Amino acid sequence: MSNEQAIGVFDSGIGGMTVVRALLQDLPHENIVYFGDTARVPYGPKSPQVVREYALQDTEILLQHNVKMIVVACNTVSAVALDVVQKRAKIPVIGVILPGAEAAVQISRKKRIGVIGTVGTIASNAYTTAIHHIDASVKVFGQPCPLFVPLAEEGWIDHKATELIAKEYLFPLTLEKIDTLVLGCTHYPLLLSTIAKAIPSGVTMIDSGKATAAVVKQLLEKEGLKNDSTLKPNLQFFVSDLPHKFAEVGERFLGTKLGRVQRVTVNG
Ligand code: DGL
Repeated sequence: MSNEQAIGVFDSGIGGMTVVRALLQDLPHENIVYFGDTARVPYGPKSPQVVREYALQDTEILLQHNVKMIVVACNTVSAVALDVVQKRAKIPVIGVILPGAEAAVQISRKKRIGVIGTVGTIASNAYTTAIHHIDASVKVFGQPCPLFVPLAEEGWIDHKATELIAKEYLFPLTLEKIDTLVLGCTHYPLLLSTIAKAIPSGVTMIDSGKATAAVVKQLLEKEGLKNDSTLKPNLQFFVSDLPHKFAEVGERFLGTKLGRVQRVTVNG
């Protein structure tokens, strides 16, 4: 294993780019190989069984690029299929659920935490289980927000429709008097300002992607795998469909130009 080997990141599509952005902030010299399964997105409404099949195939793609570790950027995959990836990869694997749960428990004073995510993530109770593993006395309130994904992809960030939908989704959580809200989906950090308007100002938002980047950094340092290069990192992007669209929308997610995006075939 060499430190110059890339970190492999995969997601159901483009959303994982918010995790790449967080990784590049904390680890600006790490090479990254990203795979987005744009042909089969969204994973959020699919059954755990299908998501587990897809997760295994996504893992194979990253392993072909000889990555030194895998970051499962997708909350839905992290919620229902992390074990599948871990079992196959035999290199360090980090999902977004545990880092997000840890950050939320650490920050919550009232021990009342809201979690928003896809239907699959919320139905799995993965965040609740992870939070209770850390502190069983915390009250956790889950709320699926499936419409946030297409709205973020459309770029309807400060749109009136998004504000209305956010209010509708988040109102039940405000009734529960949460003091912390986990953004348990790759797309939600893009809607941060709109989500903030729909919840009381005292509620702290946790970006699971950012929490994950901090954990990845710790792990690379602990395992002696951190890339000590001071050069610009090599970022490679692979998708299963529509590379041009990925490059265009990906720019919005990453906040910078992506360069070449290549299409690969997923072996189903
Ligand atoms: N990447 C997914 C997640 O974080 C959201 C998009 C999807 O449903 O595939 O759960």
